[in-house]
Amino acid sequence: MRKILVLGNWKMNGCRQSVSDLLSDLVRRFKPSVGVELAVFPPYPYLYQVQTALAATGISWGSQSASETLAGAYTGETSMAMVADFGATYVLLGHSERRMLFGETDAIVAKRFKVALEHGLKPVLCVGETLQQRESGTTLATVCQQLQSVIDLVGTGAVARGVLAYEPVWAIGTGLTATPQQAQDVHQAMRRQLAATDSKAAATLQILYGGSVTDANAYDLFNQPDIDGALVGSASLKADTFLAISRSAAIIQ
Ligand code: PGA
Repeated sequence: MRKILVLGNWKMNGCRQSVSDLLSDLVRRFKPSVGVELAVFPPYPYLYQVQTALAATGISWGSQSASETLAGAYTGETSMAMVADFGATYVLLGHSERRMLFGETDAIVAKRFKVALEHGLKPVLCVGETLQQRESGTTLATVCQQLQSVIDLVGTGAVARGVLAYEPVWAIGTGLTATPQQAQDVHQAMRRQLAATDSKAAATLQILYGGSVTDANAYDLFNQPDIDGALVGSASLKADTFLAISRSAAIIQ
């Protein structure tokens, strides 16, 4: 049985005070449940605050990005080795905002996935189609290509050492969620793609849905056979909605 994973992507939001308030709310109200795991992804300057507050709480944390380059003269970059050294569990990779605003190509994302694994991090590979791609009927071709570029570099077994997140670009931050069936169809297609070369890896890989997930729609999404959790943006900035989403997961498990 795959665990349900609920990840909170804070993006570029927060200040020391709001992070402190959110963390104390989370720590005070979080009740661990078997089969459900939570993690948050703060901006870099707040990683230390998060690490300190969440130590021994059962809530994990990770970085929103990291460079595949190991070290050296790369002003403004943070390496996988540093993120791992700092004790993170996860690193997000290939989020559509990174792909579209910061030029992260499939090749870069695949390289980062490999380097993340080499450093003991669990990479969360984000894939998703634009509205135009959905309307032109190329959703599956788009996401399967994004996934394939990582499979080609590291192999299917290694992909399953990370996490996959399907995030339709048109659903991110828009209030438009994919229907549970639309999401299930894409998740199933990706699981079949992995099963073509490694059925065990396909069966164990957690595939999350992301894009306007709230406490109102989480249960129906988690109820689909191939949806193993959520990558949550804006609803993760408040402890009550984030924890309500994780309670929906706990009901399903
Ligand atoms: P959203 O963001 O929940 O605010 O739509 C999701 C994401 O970008 O990971």
